[in-house]
Amino acid sequence: MAASPAGSNASPQNLRLRRPDDWHVHLRDGALLELVAPATARTFARAIVMPNLSPPITTVAAAVAYGARIRAALPEGSRFTPLLTAYLTDTIAAEEIERGHREGVFTACKLYPAHATTNAAAGVTDLARIEAVLTAMERIGMPLLIHGEVTDAEIDIFDREAVFIERHLAPLLVRHPGLKVVLEHITTAESVAFVRQAGPNLAATITPHHLHINRNAMFQGGLRPNFYCLPVAKRERHRLALRQAATSGEPCFFLGTDSAPHPRSAKESACGCAGIYNAPHALESYAEVFEQEGALERLEGFASLHGPAFYGLPLNEGTITLVREPHTVPPRLHGQGEGGAATDLVPFHAGQVLQWRLAEEG
Ligand code: NCD
Ligand code: ZN
Repeated sequence: MAASPAGSNASPQNLRLRRPDDWHVHLRDGALLELVAPATARTFARAIVMPNLSPPITTVAAAVAYGARIRAALPEGSRFTPLLTAYLTDTIAAEEIERGHREGVFTACKLYPAHATTNAAAGVTDLARIEAVLTAMERIGMPLLIHGEVTDAEIDIFDREAVFIERHLAPLLVRHPGLKVVLEHITTAESVAFVRQAGPNLAATITPHHLHINRNAMFQGGLRPNFYCLPVAKRERHRLALRQAATSGEPCFFLGTDSAPHPRSAKESACGCAGIYNAPHALESYAEVFEQEGALERLEGFASLHGPAFYGLPLNEGTITLVREPHTVPPRLHGQGEGGAATDLVPFHAGQVLQWRLAEEG
């Protein structure tokens, strides 16, 4: 990464990084896809695209068709590559997964414990039911991406990630030591510690919002549904552990935004959807954290190097440049929703000033 200081000991004014990837994003479908895909494609060369559509992506044919819809939603000349995932269900066939992987359609499989989050009703009810799929994935080197939360109503929502690790993840890694696993969007100090002590086949993604907010953000002066996502933000000590992990330079932690847009009407509602839309300023948001932690020189590893290394994919060619140029994030993004009706999205950092801006490509 090249940082060019303006003046002698001044902090850098420009940051050039190898083009990054987003290892966890929700691009949605239909009008929402058209609204959000350009934001991800502007920053990232590739993204692991979540399959939790309605209905979910469970077949190679559905993924091929979704990939075509994503490409159609990209701006002219975009070189963005969506990396598609299969949504695991109790009944999905190992042959379908293997064929999708062999044909280059499925990069990974996503495990949602049934009912864990948005569009997870068809998720897996018991890991024992997908044993054959996991065995096949381990054999062919296909990564398993996990939404790591138990769903039992008697477990406190703030404990669901830690309990998932103890009850499900640790035994899974013992049963399948060769399986590559990404624990997605980690939110706790326990997850950081667990990932660190595990072998090279376990990694974790960390979102920008979990680096910026703790659970108080949801209750500041009233109920703030735009800070509600799953796994839900935890106590301050967890946020600090995540910041330390993300900026540590350890290759087991890498960038995954979990950008999860929902129309404002669905967020700001009596039963608001989980998900934070951070795609328009995701890299700028991470850069802010890395700078605050005195680790700007480690941003490139987190954003552009560790993910491809774990997935066994080539590094991207080309670079992007962040420029120190404070700017205010718009309070709303306006677009068209289903049937052409107006839809607003509230972006993460709405109305706040961010220090870094992604330079347009020349
Ligand atoms: C995601 C969504 O809306 O699809 N929501 C979220 O809060 N992150 C689902 C998920 O990744 O949990
Ligand atoms: Zn997600």
